[in-house]
Amino acid sequence: MSRFLVTGANGQIGSELVAALRERHGARQVVGLDLKPPPASNGQPREGPFEEADVRDRAALAEVISAYDVGTVYHLASLLSATGEQQPDRTWEVNMGGLKNVLDLARGEGLRVFWPSSIAVFGPSTPKENTPQQTVLDPTTIYGVTKRSGELLCRYYHRRFGVDVRSLRYPGLISYKTAPGGGTTDYAVEMLRRAAEGEDYTCFLDRGARLPMMYMPDAIGATLDLMGAEGEGLTVREGYNVGAFSFTPEELAESIRGHVPGFRCSYAPDERQQIAEAWPSSVDDGAARRDWGWAPAYDLAAMTEDMLEHLREEEWESGSVGA
Ligand code: NAD
Ligand code: SER
Repeated sequence: MSRFLVTGANGQIGSELVAALRERHGARQVVGLDLKPPPASNGQPREGPFEEADVRDRAALAEVISAYDVGTVYHLASLLSATGEQQPDRTWEVNMGGLKNVLDLARGEGLRVFWPSSIAVFGPSTPKENTPQQTVLDPTTIYGVTKRSGELLCRYYHRRFGVDVRSLRYPGLISYKTAPGGGTTDYAVEMLRRAAEGEDYTCFLDRGARLPMMYMPDAIGATLDLMGAEGEGLTVREGYNVGAFSFTPEELAESIRGHVPGFRCSYAPDERQQIAEAWPSSVDDGAARRDWGWAPAYDLAAMTEDMLEHLREEEWESGSVGA
């Protein structure tokens, strides 16, 4: 069986996707790739193969793909929305250059590709509620520009060269195993972590900034389900809308107070508030539900309970709480 390659393997999603793929297919079948070896603290299993490489380096990617007989690439390596605004040139080079390299290698080698898009493809003129699959796409960040351009490139490579590339527009993802890497939705993980540690939190978004969010088990499930679906049934190659639940920082704080009664959150919005204001508050994911049976398992209450339970376990294990 040809192997799986996960780029951006050390990241918030990559670390969990590598673990899920290794669980399904065996550790040796899944190659992680990132700029540096995985840190000891990251939840990623350490028994499988790992390669240090930059996705902008097409020759290095080609060598890894050939050496491991890779058949499917989960191409996650990217800079996110907030970091992207600090480094627009690098964001273009990594996000677009990396994707172009992967798609060209896929075209030549017949590889299957998963590439994540984002709610960042939407912008201020996009309808905010129940945002349709096909709608106005006017991203305001360099990250959103690379995600929309990447969507079009994926669709082009599928139509023109027959590359089997599939994509999801992930909302903000919430997880406890690996910290998020420089996005606008990172506040949610920060708030939950602070609450589990018994501390107050100052939020960098305003209390009313409602955004679509998803718990990591659902995001990993959606990714694997989309890649397991029959290709003929897929009507979208630019990035399926996938929704789970939406909340404001104030609503998340309230949900947390159901478990941590004294928890206090204050608000000091910074430049990330502007990014959040351009994004939808909920998406219409009817195409994903119809085409490949998308259905999330977690809502806000279930996610909050599970996150706090795991974050508290982590604290107990590290001895920093209640010791
Ligand atoms: P992350 O920042 O946690 O991880 C990205 C990883 O990519 C990091 O480990 C980083 O070292 C690696 N990387 C960066 N530049 C690289 C390069 N030049 N070569 C090789 N590796 C490089 O990001 P994430 O949250 O895991 O996101 C993964 C993908 O999912 C990205 O494409 C992101 O845009 C998309 N996405 C994430 C979210 C979210 O909420 N986490 C939402 C929507 C879309
Ligand atoms: N969670 C991501 C971000 O905030 C959305 O793509 O950048």
